[in-house]
Amino acid sequence: MKREKIDLDAMGSLRRSHMCGEIGNEAVGQEVVLAGWVNRRRDHGGVIFVDLRDRTGIVQVVFKPEVHEAAHERAGLLRNEFVVMARGVLENRSDETVNEKMKSGRIEVNVSELRLLNAATPPPFLIDDETDAEEATRLRNRVHDLRRGPLQHAIEVRHKLSRSVRGALDELGFLEIETPILTRSSPEGARDFLVPARLQPGSFYALPQSPQIMKQLLMIGGCERYYQIARCFRDEELRADRQLEFTQVDLEMSFVGVEEVLSVLEEVTARGCAEAAGVEFERPFRRITYKEAMDRFGSDKPDTRITLELCDLTHVFAESEFKAFRANVDAGGIVKCLHVPDAQEMSRGDIDRLEKLVRKELGAKGLAWIRVDESGEWKSPIVKFLSDTEREAIAKATDMAPGSVTFFQADAADRANAILSRLRIDLGNRLGRTDGREWDVLLVVDFPVFERDSDGNLTYVHQPFVAPLEEDIPLLDTAPEKVRGTHYDVVVNGVELGSGSLRNHRVDVQLKILELMGYSEEQAMNSFGFLLEALEIGAPPHGGFAFGFDRWVMVMAKSASLRDVIPFPKTQRGQDLFMQSPSEVGNEHLDELSIRIKAPTPKAGE
Ligand code: AMO
Ligand code: AMP
Repeated sequence: MKREKIDLDAMGSLRRSHMCGEIGNEAVGQEVVLAGWVNRRRDHGGVIFVDLRDRTGIVQVVFKPEVHEAAHERAGLLRNEFVVMARGVLENRSDETVNEKMKSGRIEVNVSELRLLNAATPPPFLIDDETDAEEATRLRNRVHDLRRGPLQHAIEVRHKLSRSVRGALDELGFLEIETPILTRSSPEGARDFLVPARLQPGSFYALPQSPQIMKQLLMIGGCERYYQIARCFRDEELRADRQLEFTQVDLEMSFVGVEEVLSVLEEVTARGCAEAAGVEFERPFRRITYKEAMDRFGSDKPDTRITLELCDLTHVFAESEFKAFRANVDAGGIVKCLHVPDAQEMSRGDIDRLEKLVRKELGAKGLAWIRVDESGEWKSPIVKFLSDTEREAIAKATDMAPGSVTFFQADAADRANAILSRLRIDLGNRLGRTDGREWDVLLVVDFPVFERDSDGNLTYVHQPFVAPLEEDIPLLDTAPEKVRGTHYDVVVNGVELGSGSLRNHRVDVQLKILELMGYSEEQAMNSFGFLLEALEIGAPPHGGFAFGFDRWVMVMAKSASLRDVIPFPKTQRGQDLFMQSPSEVGNEHLDELSIRIKAPTPKAGE
């Protein structure tokens, strides 16, 4: 790398007196010392203006040759991102130079001494709150990116939130307890990350997907109330709201029922939102059952600020002549609709684009719709297939007033709900169908314990340790799908902040659930033996919860992606573009671990 030779100054005895973003009118007339980075330099022939930036914000510093010739001359060397300290008198700006767009736009520092502490190569993009740099460029230059306002803000929100959570849980009698990172592989849902054990060739540790089993063991070990701000690792497909490694606020408590846990969750959530972002929630939080959430909104994490709702019409099409719908009902699927009143502004072209989108991105089989024109006539590609009874039933279920558009999905329940829920959010936001609240918090309760997977086998909805509602335990033998669980979620603005449940503290119930999921007793002992044995040494009733901490920060900081609230995130492909991980390691290192790399499978055509 070619370096330009610039003579640097030492800080010497100069010490910063104020932060750039915090300095205000009260200091006008005083001598101040500021430190930071050159955000931008403007040379107005004679006078040089520099926007000086630190963590708290930006303030303008001015170099006038008549005030201090040497400082002015040195300021001529400054370039973006150079590191400096400046001493001078804080002054009000003259009327013509006031900048109303800047918080500190009425003041400036008239510099009499400049120390150039370090030079910097030209930044790959301008450090500004708004940037049009591509995300890959930002991630490749993460340290530059971290200097931008929104990332600094997210880091601060993160800090305030962890401080708030620690304070609240401490007051509620929880102990902060660490659990191992090198642990044992257990089937929790996602793929484990494995770490080769040098001392036991051929064996592997697993990184925890969550401290779930360990926190249950802590309850059996008599710790009563545990929490941890815990790093979790899941080798799963990444999306904007998923990272390979992420952080949970994980907690567990003994001798409690659902109500006690929910009351802790309300306290911690309400305090965290207030203390990290000034968001005040009324308590008690609104509660909604899983069933109601799925019926009305097609999602277990609905944004209830959006006023549009879904409506189930499966019964209407059970005997229908309209083959596309009937066939789905016969195959065990559902027919649901999303009714959008007063949608005059939606053109035929808009509707066609929506159909393309749901077909391409969500695997929809189609997107049937009915639009009611001003004269009350139904315009629709499906109306010719509908009988009078079906038309009446649709009109009864929705209002079908002139100007409305109704969208239909006939599909397996999970897909139909996912598609209509996505449309509900897109259209609700685009057409402004919201109730005007900025913040929405919900407790979603009564999730079922099991669902059927695509092969018809029973599988858990959340994780295998969720306890059924006590009164539903007998159903485990007769009608397991009907068994309601004790699982609950906290949802803010349509984002699942976290989830939890009461756990099985009775070994017979835990074994029965594993058996229903297809584990023989031997397989259960192989996978969960240490937990099952611990349940037999006097396990108290217990339950808990885990907040997805990064998601919580993302919602509070109003960021669009987890990558904007994690200082060093990974890309969609699981890479850190700045440090360039993952990376290959030398053969010597692999030998020590008794590992040989298989030749990569050749791709077709190679
Ligand atoms: P769960 O798997 O639902 O529950 O995780 C709890 C919360 O963690 C967040 N989360 C994630 N955040 C970022 N990236 C990911 N890949 C990711 N996966 C999950 C979500 C989620 O709600 N042990 C149980 C909790 C319990 O029952 O106490 C658990 O881990 O916000
Ligand atoms: P078709 O008879 O297949 O031409 O479908 C008539 C209309 O119904 C078209 O607008 C399709 O987009 C829509 N459609 C077809 N299948 C489904 C389905 N399973 N769910 C919702 N709409 C569908």
